[in-house]
Amino acid sequence: MSDKKKLLRALSGETLDVPPVWLMRQAGRYLPEYRATRAEAGDFLSLCYNPDLAAEVTLQPIRRYGFDASILFADILLLPHALGADVWFVTGEGPRLSTITEASGLVKLKGKDDIHDHMAPVYETVRILSRELPSDTTLIGFAGAPWTVATYMIAGRGTPDQAPAHALREGDPETFGALINLLTEATIEYLDQQVQAGAEVVKLFDSWAGSLKGDAFDRFALEPVKRIIAGLKSRHPGLPVIVFPREAGEKYVGFAKAVGADALAIDTAVDTNWAAEYLQPNSCVQGNLDPKLMVTGGDALISETRRIVEALKGGPHIFNLGHGITPDADPENVHRMLEAIRG
Ligand code: CP3
Repeated sequence: MSDKKKLLRALSGETLDVPPVWLMRQAGRYLPEYRATRAEAGDFLSLCYNPDLAAEVTLQPIRRYGFDASILFADILLLPHALGADVWFVTGEGPRLSTITEASGLVKLKGKDDIHDHMAPVYETVRILSRELPSDTTLIGFAGAPWTVATYMIAGRGTPDQAPAHALREGDPETFGALINLLTEATIEYLDQQVQAGAEVVKLFDSWAGSLKGDAFDRFALEPVKRIIAGLKSRHPGLPVIVFPREAGEKYVGFAKAVGADALAIDTAVDTNWAAEYLQPNSCVQGNLDPKLMVTGGDALISETRRIVEALKGGPHIFNLGHGITPDADPENVHRMLEAIRG
């Protein structure tokens, strides 16, 4: 038996008898201990920028469930904040940001190398975690992919169809392209520092990749992610990278190989037998239990969990959800899912 951590084994292409498991948003409002620490911190951003408390909430799900991986507690919108955008969270509604609608909004932003003072608490959280995590738990750092982060910076909030970002992309391609470029370069610097602080794997979240079609997908979902991975791997050879071009549909095929990623996270809509045939030969696959089953539980939770493990057991697989666990999830259902995976 190798003494290498299970998550790293799956990322290096090994097929394991029992897949490693962690959950997107595993530190979150479904856990009473998270809600208590969040109340102590005040608001969500204060929690992200408090290294002791951010490390504490990152460790909570590890203590409770013994997941194989731990993901840094932070948010993809810290990068726009570090670049000089206003960012705040409205309770019950979600994020709000100052908007970028034309070139004048872009020139006010800082440069790619000017983010580190602002991000110092995040790097400190990573250092605390790399000391305090159990020796068999892998520490994942992360950032948003440029397109998804840009959709929030342009609209000033989450949008169902990313219409403001598509409008800028089509109406002012120069400003849009410059924003994507800045985010691409700043993300390399940000993740480089997370790795230097102790992150062993990085993940890029492109939650809105599916709203880019055809050539626009290749230019703004694929190319920037490819540049980020090339930049990181030239500084950190062998660094494992997980990509999540959510709702990419048929564009998932060949994506991991094209961008140089080690694992492809898939959303709930992807058929696991199709993933085994068309995605797993190219890379480790991560996913893809429906987060709704963490709310409803019952026999369906157990049978779906087993079905996914079975469908992806012929190649490298990291068990996860198809999107983040929701605040109304029952913490007991996580134990039931783990029992179904690990026996
Ligand atoms: O996965 C983890 O546990 C690590 C931490 C993490 C958070 N956000 C914490 C968080 C990660 C990896 C993210 C990523 C993120 N943030 C994404 C990409 C993944 C996805 O969900 O699609 C996006 C789009 C964001 C932006 C964001 N942050 C939104 C839209 C919201 C509001 C929605 C919500 O759930 O309230 C957040 C807030 C947020 N980020 C919370 C957490 C735990 C809830 C904040 C709270 O405690 O009130």
